[in-house]
Amino acid sequence: MPLRIQGHLARHFLSGVALAVGLALAGDATAQNPVAASDAMKHDGTPAGQYQPSLDALGAQALEQAGAKPGSPQLSDAEFKRANQIYFERCAGCHGVLRKGATGKPLTTNITREHGYEYLRDFITYGSPGGMPNWGTSNELQQEEIELMARYLLNEPAQPPEFGMPEIRATWKVIVPVDQRPTKQMNKLDLDNLMSVTLRDSGEIALIDGASKQIVTRIKTGYAVHISRISASGRYLYVIGRDAKVNLIDLWMEIPATVAELKVGNEARSVETSKFKGFEDKYAIAGAYWPPQYVIMDGATLEPLKIVSTRGMIYDEQTYHPEPRVASIVASHFKPEFLVNIKETGKIRLVDYSDIKNLKEIEIEAERFLHDGGFDATKRYFMVAANARNKVAIIDMKEGRLVKVVETQGQTPHPGRGANFVHPKHGPVWATGHLGDETITLIGTDPEKHPKEAWTVVQTLIGQGGGSLFVKTHPKSHYLYVDTTLNTDPDISSSVAVFDIKELGQDKPKYKVLPIGEWSGIKEGQRRVVQGEFNKDGSEIWFSVWNGKAQESAIVVVDDKTLKLKSVIKDKSLITPTGKFNLLNTRDDVY
Ligand code: HEC
Repeated sequence: MPLRIQGHLARHFLSGVALAVGLALAGDATAQNPVAASDAMKHDGTPAGQYQPSLDALGAQALEQAGAKPGSPQLSDAEFKRANQIYFERCAGCHGVLRKGATGKPLTTNITREHGYEYLRDFITYGSPGGMPNWGTSNELQQEEIELMARYLLNEPAQPPEFGMPEIRATWKVIVPVDQRPTKQMNKLDLDNLMSVTLRDSGEIALIDGASKQIVTRIKTGYAVHISRISASGRYLYVIGRDAKVNLIDLWMEIPATVAELKVGNEARSVETSKFKGFEDKYAIAGAYWPPQYVIMDGATLEPLKIVSTRGMIYDEQTYHPEPRVASIVASHFKPEFLVNIKETGKIRLVDYSDIKNLKEIEIEAERFLHDGGFDATKRYFMVAANARNKVAIIDMKEGRLVKVVETQGQTPHPGRGANFVHPKHGPVWATGHLGDETITLIGTDPEKHPKEAWTVVQTLIGQGGGSLFVKTHPKSHYLYVDTTLNTDPDISSSVAVFDIKELGQDKPKYKVLPIGEWSGIKEGQRRVVQGEFNKDGSEIWFSVWNGKAQESAIVVVDDKTLKLKSVIKDKSLITPTGKFNLLNTRDDVY
């Protein structure tokens, strides 16, 4: 219900509303002013609005701005809808849902109005070397879309709704109750060797048998499943879509299927399950981008048990951030704890799940823009990239503290879970590639036997180019595989560099190039190669060849001993395969 009231009247009316709501919340006086109170309820579509009224002055100020300001261009409902869609799909990831800035600059109206329409239009068109994409000259957006976005930015941002317990519970479905589920495994699948494969644009996962390479089944999920996680017992698979939908899949059923589902917000990236002894399969946790919160659920039913907001202070400046997104989450092997990475505030929370009624959290100051990461080989230390800061923060899971923040010496580290191996000269190391350049950084991880190397960059490898998303190896392998998925050169984005770990003692270690895209036999599209994942016994590494939605994609399986093509998995239903998760390696954090 768009409502436009201007000037003095607006101020008067809205502060009246605020007052009325304040009183209503105090459980009083609604009867004295029923009109204002019922109107107030209509305005208060967002739960955030419900909290403002007790702050009369602030609430009134904010509301005053929400209407059309003199001089700000009007957008029709259709234009506003379109612009919102473009904003959330293409801009919010860097500039934040509320436009308060993340890795991109803030785009609040005090700034955009200062810049004015032409500046905004041109900036969106041409981008900048400071990291703003050139939406116009790359033809990603049409001229009229750019003009629309420039006008949109001169208006107040639209605040998406909150998603508290009533909203979350309303999405909760138990499809097969626990007492109707099998009591033993009803299929002959080698569960540890299954691959859970994200079919990004079809909103599904495919379960593929590691030995036969057959698709066992496909399961409808949320959009663009970001990750799959497997419960400690190996029975339950949790996946989360970008739309914050969690599916719980029971792998014991004759044909594995979803037994429960839940939405934890509007936008999310992470899910994990309790792994500590005594808590196997007991809890699941999901982290959302919007609203900024994490949700602890019952592991067997996904019943939402607890929501914790991540809004708060940035670790160093100690200024408030309204939307610190939850990035990756991992479960400790040392304690009943989840490690939750919070992007914009740069904080890591160790959430003790042994008593969620009396929840204890350790809050660690790390670095801003925490993103993804993984354990070292002992699983005692967790390494997480603060990607826009070119750093990696290291957490000691046993002692619950920050060990160090290390500069990777590259541009925008993106490790995925990273890769652990024993370097011929420097001992145990963990590796990350970079989005922004061709370097692969090796960081020492053994403070006991290699104290000099521990938590420092011991070597920088030079790979094929920037745009790397994942590095990979396996304890049984002596190769380090580096993809370059987002590189702009099609030859580079469709191939993978392989370093021989045994030769890393040399001065400038060389790499081999595996032309995975070519091996797939696919002739169309950019054939982006992404995310190597090992099978159960570490003898094969699987790569996705990721093409457009309407184009052919595939999974290419490489023999780790010979570095030769072993097989190509193709199927009409393999639409945009991206992430693949071997269930054993994922469960035991082997990477
Ligand atoms: C990959 C991250 C990223 C995405 C996606 C992105 N931006 Fe930006 N944007 C930036 C960065 C970084 C800057 C600061 C650049 C600089 O200072 O040179 C910026 C700057 C801007 C500015 C100029 C702000 C100022 O104060 O000078 C505008 C306007 C802008 N972005 C609009 C948009 C719009 C509209 C979209 C979506 C269509 C978008 N951006 C998507 C990263 C991004």
